Amino acid sequence: MSSEKAKLDWQNLTFSYRKTDFNIRYYYKKGKWSKGELTQDENLNLHMAAPCLHYGQECFEGMKAFETKNGKIVVFRPEENWKRLQKTSERISIPPMPQKMFVDAVKKVVAANKKFVPPYGTGASLYMRPLVIGTGARVGLGPADEYTFLIFVTPVGPYYKGGIHPVKALIATEFDRAAPDGVGDCKVGGNYAAGLAAARFGYDKGYPVVLHLDPKEKRFIDEFSTSNFIGIKGNSYVTPKSKSILPSITNESLSIIAKDLGMKVERRPIDVAELPEFSEIGAVGTAAVVTPVTTIHYKGKNLKFGSEKEAGPVITKLYNTLTGIQYGDIKDKHKWLVEVK
Ligand code: COI
Repeated sequence: MSSEKAKLDWQNLTFSYRKTDFNIRYYYKKGKWSKGELTQDENLNLHMAAPCLHYGQECFEGMKAFETKNGKIVVFRPEENWKRLQKTSERISIPPMPQKMFVDAVKKVVAANKKFVPPYGTGASLYMRPLVIGTGARVGLGPADEYTFLIFVTPVGPYYKGGIHPVKALIATEFDRAAPDGVGDCKVGGNYAAGLAAARFGYDKGYPVVLHLDPKEKRFIDEFSTSNFIGIKGNSYVTPKSKSILPSITNESLSIIAKDLGMKVERRPIDVAELPEFSEIGAVGTAAVVTPVTTIHYKGKNLKFGSEKEAGPVITKLYNTLTGIQYGDIKDKHKWLVEVK
C-alpha cells in the first residue's frame, strides 16, 4: 500500500466523516470471533430485528492516530480503549474480545489507511471509531446471538471550531444524560442520544456545549455532553468523581501530565456552587482534546473563567503537553504511543 498522502486540505479539516479506503470487521457467531476482514464497503447489511437497532445493544470507542515529527504513525493508548470497551460490553451483555484482537484491528485499519493520517504539523489526526453491535434477529428482550465489531477511520480537525479557542457552555438541568445507577459510566450510544435534546437546547441559546449535573441531586458536576470536566483551582487539577460519568482516557492522561507538571490532582464530587472558584475550565476527551470553556451559563447568569479570546495558561500547558506527546515533540515517558508499521 502506498504511503503517499491523500490530497486533502489538511489544515482546514473539520470533525466530520470523510470516506477513507478501508474499514475492518469481525463477526461473532456460535461463541467465536472471526478473523478480521478489511473491506471498502461503507454500508452494513443488518437484519431489521437486530437488537442493536431496537434494544440499543451497541457500544463504541473514540481513538486517534497521529503522524509524529519523525514520520512515524502512532496510536494513543489503545489498550485503555480495549479495557473500557470490555467494561461497557460486560454491562450490556456483549461478549468480550481479546486485547490482541482489538489492538491488531486498530493497527491493521490504520496501516491500510496510512494516506489518510494527517501529516505532522497540520494539527489534525486520524479519528477511529471502533463499535460493537448486536446483530441477528431477536424480538424478545435479551442479548443478541451474533455481533459485529468494526472500526472505521476518518481524518479530522478540531471538534469545536477553532481548536484550542474558548467555547461557551450551558448547564441544562432540564435533561439528564444518564441515570444514577444506569450506564453513564459506559460508552453506549444511548447516553449520547439522551444528550441530543440538551445539546439542541443549549445550541439554540448560543451555547455549543452542555454541562450535565449529577442525575440524582442535580447538585454536583458530572460531565459535558461530549467530554469530561476539569477545573483549575490554584495549583490543583480538579475533576469530578461520579458514578454516572465516562472514565475518559484523555482525562486520566491529563491528570498524569498535571502531576508531572507539579500540580495536585483532586478527583472528587464538585458542587456546582464551587464553579466560581475555578480560574480555568476545560472540556477533555479524545475528540475535544482540551477545549477551554470560558463561559458557563447557569440559572440565568453567565459565569466567566478567564479571557473569552484565548485559553488560560494551565489549560494551554496541558493541551501543549498532551498534543506534544501525541505528535512526538515531547518524550513519551509513560509509553502511551503504539507504533503502526
Ligand atoms: C470522543 O471524544 O471520541 C467521543 O466519542 C465523543 C463524541 C461526542 C465525539
